[in-house]
Amino acid sequence: MKSDEIRQRFLKFFESRGHKILPSAPLVPENDPSVLFNTAGMQPLVPYLMGQKHPMGSRLANIQKCVRTGDLDDIGDNRHFSFFEMMGNWSLGDYFKEEAIKWSYEFLTSKEEGLGLDPKRLYTTVFEGDENAPFDQESKDIWMNVGIPENRIYALPADDNWWSPGENGPCGPCSEMFYDMSGTTGDLSKEEFIDAVNKESVIEIWNDVFMEYEKKDGKVIGKLAQENVDTGAGLERITAVMQGKQTAYDTDILSDVINKISELSELKEINSETTRLKRIIADHLRTSIMLIADGVLPLSTGQGYILRRLLRRAIRCGHALTFNNSRVREIFNILEEKYSLTYPNIVSEKEKIIFEMTKEYEKFIKTLSQGLKELEKGTDPFVLATTYGFPIELTMEEYNKKGQAVDLEDFSKKMTEHQKLSQTASAGMFKGGLANHNEKTIQLHTAHHLLLAALQEVLGKSVKQRGSNITEERLRIDFKFERKMTDEEKKKVEDLVNEKIKLGLSVIRREMPLQDAQNLGAEMEFGAKYPEIVSVYTIEDENGNQFSKEFCGGPHVNNTNELGHFKIQKEEAVSAGVRRIKAVLV
Ligand code: ALA
Repeated sequence: MKSDEIRQRFLKFFESRGHKILPSAPLVPENDPSVLFNTAGMQPLVPYLMGQKHPMGSRLANIQKCVRTGDLDDIGDNRHFSFFEMMGNWSLGDYFKEEAIKWSYEFLTSKEEGLGLDPKRLYTTVFEGDENAPFDQESKDIWMNVGIPENRIYALPADDNWWSPGENGPCGPCSEMFYDMSGTTGDLSKEEFIDAVNKESVIEIWNDVFMEYEKKDGKVIGKLAQENVDTGAGLERITAVMQGKQTAYDTDILSDVINKISELSELKEINSETTRLKRIIADHLRTSIMLIADGVLPLSTGQGYILRRLLRRAIRCGHALTFNNSRVREIFNILEEKYSLTYPNIVSEKEKIIFEMTKEYEKFIKTLSQGLKELEKGTDPFVLATTYGFPIELTMEEYNKKGQAVDLEDFSKKMTEHQKLSQTASAGMFKGGLANHNEKTIQLHTAHHLLLAALQEVLGKSVKQRGSNITEERLRIDFKFERKMTDEEKKKVEDLVNEKIKLGLSVIRREMPLQDAQNLGAEMEFGAKYPEIVSVYTIEDENGNQFSKEFCGGPHVNNTNELGHFKIQKEEAVSAGVRRIKAVLV
């Protein structure tokens, strides 16, 4: 059965049982700043699970696109995907365990209306009980009634059988369904069952969550006003099961993409490593396409940062495979064919998607070629990685070509040291208060650097920073200067900052020994203690002309054109010889 038929059957099955079909919500949550992406079908429905009335009624079903980036490093194995689709049916204070379990079972096993899976190959689990809620005897009884033998129903603890999307909100015990991929596993003790799941001979295919509890700050605080059902069945997993494959990479969902990557790669050898690389590329490109279609752009923060990471990792894996990343359009075309009906925005946003992916590719290639030049000059692998963003894997390859080897022990020692130092550095340097690294504060932080440089240009080099503070609303800088600024001076400073914003200057981070940074004349805060290796942020044009140069732990925007319009709100005295400016970005 093809993935599209699975989709259709799922929706039809629940539609004929009184469910209204909802379209997938976008990947970026519309009203929930606490998460970067929708990670489960229930996420966009949280307010309704909490009791708000849904305009479509109390029985809903959909196929929600999801992005999970917690386990990026696992991608490439059989089970992990950064993008996947979750089929789900919901009861918002309508039916409960009886119908939910019965329908899950019916859909999985019915030949006419569902998937026609072999009931003898199913296993299920129920919640074993703890201080928050009792053992779920009711679900166990219902499973036995539909025909699952008692010795194939396992009671498991909250780690496995309690579902909640986060520290706050609706949650509850769940009951999961598993399928025996070999068909020969037979009856299993609880320990054998857990072992079979770990080995992936038995795999989870569906989760029924009985959401009737509420969590606050990580603790279950009691029952919700209504009993809800939230179910989730991963389309990728179910498709793999239906097509008798260990992984969705080998199903109709992704096999064409994998084949295309093979075709476009010069390296034709098939082994576990090249397979893993192809899967990472397929996964990351699919996710990137879906994200850009939903409005995410590669940036240095938030959702954009995840997108950039995915794209750059795909490019690196492509490099290792000698896959030509500039042929991303050909991969796109395959995914477009696959998803155009389900997600028409990948068609309407096609040119933008390809443009953004190509641009990021070119940017990264530039980073790499600069890194290569440095490598030729003999620059240390650690400096290449931290200052030039040149990945250690590539340094190793280059060394290899010359018959040399990277001293990895030395590299990881420096890296560990460096991570420790940069943590202390950023903690120490922002005592002033950049606790809240959201987008606004990051923008204000970059504006702060522009402002200091502008003050020095207008009032003279004797202007020195004496303190700083940034909130989500405004920035504040205290600086050494003897007198009140004139209105004309204020206007000049403002204009200069806005001019630099408009020029679209790059904000670049470099790591270097403290002494080198001092020799460069980077601005440092009076009286601050700096570690041996520091990071310096410069704001500079394409020719490397630096407008601003400061010791700083970051974070910053990548380009000043991300800032908006700069405005000084107030200029006043703090103490003798020290002035204070408060400014905003509007
Ligand atoms: N929300 C449940 C899950 O994601 C169904 O597993």
